[in-house]
Amino acid sequence: MKHRIVVSRPVPAPVTERARTEFDATLAEDRDMGPDAVLQALADHDAEGLFLSSNLKLDAAMVAALPAHVKVAATCSVGYDHIDVAAAKARGLVVTNTPEVLTDCTADLAFLLLLNACRRAGEYGAIIREGWGRSFGMHEMLGIRASGKTLGIVGMGRIGRAMAQRAGGFGMTVLYTDTQRLPPELEQGATYYPDLRAMLPHCEILSVHAPGGAATDKMMNAETFGLLPKGAVFVNAARGGLVDEDALIDALKSGHLFAAGLDVFRSEPNFDRRLDALPNVFLTPHMGSATFETRVAMGNRALDNIAAVLDGKPAIDPLWT
Ligand code: DGY
Repeated sequence: MKHRIVVSRPVPAPVTERARTEFDATLAEDRDMGPDAVLQALADHDAEGLFLSSNLKLDAAMVAALPAHVKVAATCSVGYDHIDVAAAKARGLVVTNTPEVLTDCTADLAFLLLLNACRRAGEYGAIIREGWGRSFGMHEMLGIRASGKTLGIVGMGRIGRAMAQRAGGFGMTVLYTDTQRLPPELEQGATYYPDLRAMLPHCEILSVHAPGGAATDKMMNAETFGLLPKGAVFVNAARGGLVDEDALIDALKSGHLFAAGLDVFRSEPNFDRRLDALPNVFLTPHMGSATFETRVAMGNRALDNIAAVLDGKPAIDPLWT
């Protein structure tokens, strides 16, 4: 008998196809299911597995409302700050995520933000789309050189390390901070700072790759932005919660920061529109993992996790063991 699952968000065609073939699946066809629709679908379908993504909050209330037959919730994301881990654990729910498969594409996008912010690509794009019309003098519309700069990385997990690898190709000096120093073979020559505040004054570019949640909330604030050298560039493709956006806007307006490249925001999808009013911000709508290859791999990884658990095997990517 096929396992009964609910897929709460539209997924790429190959993942839909697999869910239909290998599982007895209720699928969100063309738009996300909200929490009530998810609970209804789980109950109606007598489902044992929930495939979700970071747009669906699995908070304590939602965990408590899950029908008793739901055994596993697989989030199709590496981040899991939308999940109340303590509540899920206490309920005996198995929760999994999709690490590894999105590392390269997310680092690619973070590096894209870095280059676009340094080289004013948002402004250049707007100029060319408005018809260009006059040549710029040698002194006008100048960006800053990215190659050879000192890049600080906050959070040297898989994506932070992939960012460091890309920085190596651009001749950058890499500094990093994390809760623990990495073994030398993973450091790739980067210099470890146990303390974020000690690292910041040395970073011409700063890219954050820490997880979201209470421990990292607003780690970038008026004080920490103030510790960066004047003219620094800030990149965030991790979580909007890491940043105090009022402080970021102040730093961008005053010129303390030269520019920022942002893929994530404190509020999504309705982000703080003061950000896109600033010319020195390059913005993308939370698209770190958004390539066909990666989204298919993520979807398959979430299905693999559900299948393993419902087959009575250990989860491949459990959030805890
Ligand atoms: C992730 O996988 O965590 C992405 O940011 C999508 O939420």
